[in-house]
Amino acid sequence: MNGKKQFAIFLKNKLVDERSLDQIEKLIEKPKQIHQGDLAFPCFQLAKILKKSPNEIASELATGTIPDQFEKAEAAGGYLNVFLNKKRAVLELLTKILQDKENYADHDFGNEKTIVFDLSSPNIAKPFSMGHLRSTVIGSSLASISEKCGYKTERINYIGDWGTQFGKLICAYLKWGEEDKVRANPIEELTKLYVRFHEEAENDPSLNDEGRMWFKKLEDHDPQATELWIWFKDASLKAFQKIYELLDVQFDSYNGESFFNDKMEETVVELQRKNLLETSEGAQIVRIGDDIPPCLIKKTDGATLYATRDLTAAIYRKNTYSFDQAFYVVGHEQSLHFEQVKRVLKKLGHDWADNMHHVPFGLILQDGKKMSTRKGRTVLLETVLIEAIQLAEQNIREKNPELKELKTVAQQVGVGAVIFHDLKNEKGNDVEFSLEQMLRFEGDTGPYVQYTATRIQTLLNKGNFDGELPQEISIEEESWDLISVLNDFPAMVEQAFKRKEPSVISKYLLKLSHKFNQYYANNKILNSPETSERLALCASVQIVVKEGLRLLGIQTPNRM
Ligand code: ARG
Repeated sequence: MNGKKQFAIFLKNKLVDERSLDQIEKLIEKPKQIHQGDLAFPCFQLAKILKKSPNEIASELATGTIPDQFEKAEAAGGYLNVFLNKKRAVLELLTKILQDKENYADHDFGNEKTIVFDLSSPNIAKPFSMGHLRSTVIGSSLASISEKCGYKTERINYIGDWGTQFGKLICAYLKWGEEDKVRANPIEELTKLYVRFHEEAENDPSLNDEGRMWFKKLEDHDPQATELWIWFKDASLKAFQKIYELLDVQFDSYNGESFFNDKMEETVVELQRKNLLETSEGAQIVRIGDDIPPCLIKKTDGATLYATRDLTAAIYRKNTYSFDQAFYVVGHEQSLHFEQVKRVLKKLGHDWADNMHHVPFGLILQDGKKMSTRKGRTVLLETVLIEAIQLAEQNIREKNPELKELKTVAQQVGVGAVIFHDLKNEKGNDVEFSLEQMLRFEGDTGPYVQYTATRIQTLLNKGNFDGELPQEISIEEESWDLISVLNDFPAMVEQAFKRKEPSVISKYLLKLSHKFNQYYANNKILNSPETSERLALCASVQIVVKEGLRLLGIQTPNRM
């Protein structure tokens, strides 16, 4: 709508310019003063080639016919300045948004290729931490953004249900656990046992050996170990499911670490066959370069490791989904691990490992420190969500006591607040956990953006908006500003995908909401001669706000 493309095409044709369209487009500037037009092209470089003064060139261009996107063209100071035909541009854009609705800003550059997302992936028998919330919401949002760009996605919740920690847990349960308590409150009780195990192991390191022994037993299908493990796993998954329902996220697969138990041997054999395995201090390792520690494949006691499972999972996913790309949405403290896994895959001859991307994100800090289950320093996500919903309910009840569906709306608003808080900053930044900040309902928050959409809904209802744009519109300067933000949405979606950065969308939504609320404060929408075009503009804003929120994984209430 800003006419840059058309301007560049026009210039290229007129000038029979050697330069590519992109190069010409890059030369186009924005005039310093509004009265000089909307776009400007500097003619200085052409002066030598054409042997004319820049202004002569500009004047010649200005007197010929210009594309209909532009109202007029003028030569000034060696520049060719053009003025957009704003009415036409606005009519085109708003017609498009109202017709395409939520499909506005869809791209097709993904060509239906598949991206596999490894996201959420909490460890069972531990509380669902705020860190896993980050992976869940960043991953889900990136998956939705990818779909909007024309990719197919597979959302895999790679549950952490295998590893030495289960040996420790089984050991702790057999020493100090009480069945009734664990049955009543599995996650809480198991966490207590886990914390206690680490406390006691500080004084008695032999406990660690015992823990390792139990894990080995588990890997060797010991019935007692297996039975306990299944119990812990089922109870945990049930508890996590509640959280996923609250967050309204779904997965295509829950194949976690244990799913690969019977598949790891094949990987190990393959490594052996290609002469990549080496024994070092009794353990099996693969060397992958001097700049990085070797990748551990098997411990001295033959037990497998996190990396062994990730290697196997990557190969399995490639075979199952023949993915174009794989995104691992995991905190940046695991960067080394993913680098090691990639390098081992490359050594195996799997060049597709280049299409695996670790998508790291910052920590959630509490009082400046990392949260840790082991040290008992952790905030339960479920508690946060429930408090957020309660607070939302209170707020809504005060403002709108008659609201039907109060419970549903409170859930949409409370959960939306938590998700938005997480997605509003660049994902690499650490986030200081603050329930208070998260739950603020004014300022740069999710509820503020949601409120923009519901406020528009009220206007559309009152004005009986019929979804149509009038043929004739009078576009005022003030609405132009808002409209040009609407026009940016497709570019923002593309940028969010390319940078793997949902905050591009959240920041954009804040900007759009601010602009809309300014517009709303300064323009009478109902009962004005311009009502129908203004309602069409409002409806377009609402379409974009709702779709933007959906891309973040946030619902839009009808009222609030
Ligand atoms: N369960 C792991 C953790 O909580 C995260 C798993 C990430 N995904 C992967 N493929 N390793 O640290």
